[in-house]
Amino acid sequence: MPQATTQAAQSQRFSTPFAAAVHDGLTHAPQKELPSMYLYDEVGSALFEVITALPEYGVTRAEERVLNAHAADIVAELPRNVTVAELGSGSGRKTRRILEALCKKRPTEYCPIEISPTALQLCRRELGDIERISIVGYERDYLAGLAEVSANRKEGEVLLVLFLGSTIGNFARLAATRFLKSIRGMLKPGDSLLLGMDLLKPLDTLIAAYDDPIGVTAAFNLNLLARINRELDADIPLDAFEHLARFNPDARSVEMHLRAKRPVRATIRAAGLSVEFRQGETIWTESSHKYLAGEAGPLAADAGFTCSRQWLDNEWGFAESLLVAK
Ligand code: AVJ
Repeated sequence: MPQATTQAAQSQRFSTPFAAAVHDGLTHAPQKELPSMYLYDEVGSALFEVITALPEYGVTRAEERVLNAHAADIVAELPRNVTVAELGSGSGRKTRRILEALCKKRPTEYCPIEISPTALQLCRRELGDIERISIVGYERDYLAGLAEVSANRKEGEVLLVLFLGSTIGNFARLAATRFLKSIRGMLKPGDSLLLGMDLLKPLDTLIAAYDDPIGVTAAFNLNLLARINRELDADIPLDAFEHLARFNPDARSVEMHLRAKRPVRATIRAAGLSVEFRQGETIWTESSHKYLAGEAGPLAADAGFTCSRQWLDNEWGFAESLLVAK
């Protein structure tokens, strides 16, 4: 049977997309892998919030500095009649200044797009007090949500899409271009995309950001295995795995892996899987690609945008780029 047919047939056997993804990822040879989006259950999201407070993880603070320092400039670049759509609302803290600057000029609609209802709730609580804001949450994946926001817009309304936090870094470079093209496909000329990218920096700084000394990032990573145990009727021995962060110089990404400290065998019932790990074998759980500020222009151009402005945080190394749909 052709591979695609086999996989499609298999996916239907599983109760949830998570079960199907775990099945596909842990049978992937030679490198076992799990999609990074599943790091963010309730426990994982809480641990990520702690990561953003760690001195070693400068990404979130850098973006907050850029947005706080330049919110007025950013808003000055935009047309008057703007509706804001955010891909992945997070805690909403970073977005606050931009929304305040917009709402000061005119009442503004803010549409967070987020698959987690808990996150939407948090975001409403965090930003709901801004004067003249109206928040319309979309409990959808990014592209489906954006298509809806775009379809619901009124005549003459221009969209500003926020894709912050360097989430773009989780895509490999080609996939990042493809994703931005898909976003462009839902926009009209003159709409814009504010894109946050973490920049390449010295190796020791990068590794410390993804392997902090008190082990929060390790817990964040290991929680993925704990989540498999909790949700998929599995018996993975957590103490047999350790967190690993390493730099991939070809991809210019920091990779997170979970490494088996000894030979391991485990059963994941809801994924219909019995799986073995050799000592030292790893599961690849996330890549965070690092960019040069100058890459925003070509990336934008490849996806049908023009990079019209860029604001940098030089203290940590972070770029916020305004891409306008051509
Ligand atoms: C939320 C995807 C931007 O890749 O830096 C933090 C996630 N992983 N520490 C990142 C993360 C490990 C983070 N993003």
